[in-house]
Amino acid sequence: MEIGVFIPIGNNGWLISTTSPQYTPSFDLNKEIVLRAEKYGFDFALSMIKLRGFGGPSRFWDDNLESFTLMAGLASITSRIELMATVAVLTLPPALCARMAMTIDSISHGRFGVNLVTGWQKAEYDQMGLWPGEEHYKYRYDLLTEYATVMQELWATGRSDLKGKYYTMNDCRLGPLPSRQIPLICAGTSDSGIAFASKFCAYNFCSGVGQVNDPRDCADAVTRLKAQSAAAGTDTKALALTMIIADETDAAAMAKWEHYLAGADHEAIEWSRAQASGDKFAADNSTAGRIRRRTGVPFGGSRLIGSYATVARLLDEMAEIEGLAGVMLTFDDFVIGVEQFGQRIQPLMRSRAKLAAAA
Ligand SMILES: Cc1cc2nc3c(=O)[nH]c(=O)nc-3n(C[C@H](O)[C@H](O)[C@H](O)COP(=O)(O)O)c2cc1C
Repeated sequence: MEIGVFIPIGNNGWLISTTSPQYTPSFDLNKEIVLRAEKYGFDFALSMIKLRGFGGPSRFWDDNLESFTLMAGLASITSRIELMATVAVLTLPPALCARMAMTIDSISHGRFGVNLVTGWQKAEYDQMGLWPGEEHYKYRYDLLTEYATVMQELWATGRSDLKGKYYTMNDCRLGPLPSRQIPLICAGTSDSGIAFASKFCAYNFCSGVGQVNDPRDCADAVTRLKAQSAAAGTDTKALALTMIIADETDAAAMAKWEHYLAGADHEAIEWSRAQASGDKFAADNSTAGRIRRRTGVPFGGSRLIGSYATVARLLDEMAEIEGLAGVMLTFDDFVIGVEQFGQRIQPLMRSRAKLAAAA
């Protein structure tokens, strides 16, 4: 099973709480995390793009670095780990995104991929005068289809002349060509998101409903993706987003989780729910639909909470989900978390035994 890390490009990572570790994102913090991840054989690191935080007492995600810039820096100091940046497609023309990706492909010697997001939070774009109107929610995957087509044409042939509804290329050029067809990644959970990913992406994130310690939390979403991908004649790989909170004993790890829950930043959570509710077209199985239904729980995605042995066992059970290629991890404290994963959890995992043998 592949293992990745969703690096904390925004303050406080993925716990919307005042009692979880509070920190500001920086290059140095992310460098430390990614260098440790590379040392322990992590397969990839991905950074998101978030242009407006949720506020509240924890100032959740009010501080965020820019994704491509961060990954370019990390590309120059790593040598093996795959790196992925995220583009908010409403903010950047596809030909420029293709050129930035080609540049990081050059810096990383072929270790770079692009995660595409259409946007579920209007305030991120409206604050810059870039919000196209509420209809965007309806046609966002049609726009993304043109966006991906332009990039893939440029990377494959150095040219795109696409005359689309959303983008018009006039003999647009790109050179030098990247060292490989740069992989696209998506986190579509809606039907149209999964259909898009099945056609264009090397990977799609398949999120569960967020049960604690349910290793099969994401299984239904994986099945949906693999069915669509098979129907499209592609092999889009399924990844699951998973938070780990680990300690010496199950009780100690659970006590940390309870402590974070007690400090849940309800103001920030409510703000994100209100943003997600702006998408009147959102199906319940889309990202916006899921955030909308979120109650006082400070995170979306699977959660594995327990002793190092418990977490290793649960990850091995996840590895048995048919069609799941890997997991992308988040932690309450990323530096300690990656270290605990490398030293205490991974050596116990059957699904990472090859790596332990190689080490
Ligand atoms: C692993 C992962 C990464 C994501 N990264 C971002 C991101 O960087 N920016 C963002 O606005 N949304 C991000 N999202 C949310 C969704 O990708 C995004 O809202 C997508 O457009 C949802 O499509 P859907 O309606 O098909 O679910 C991420 C979700 C996951 C699970």
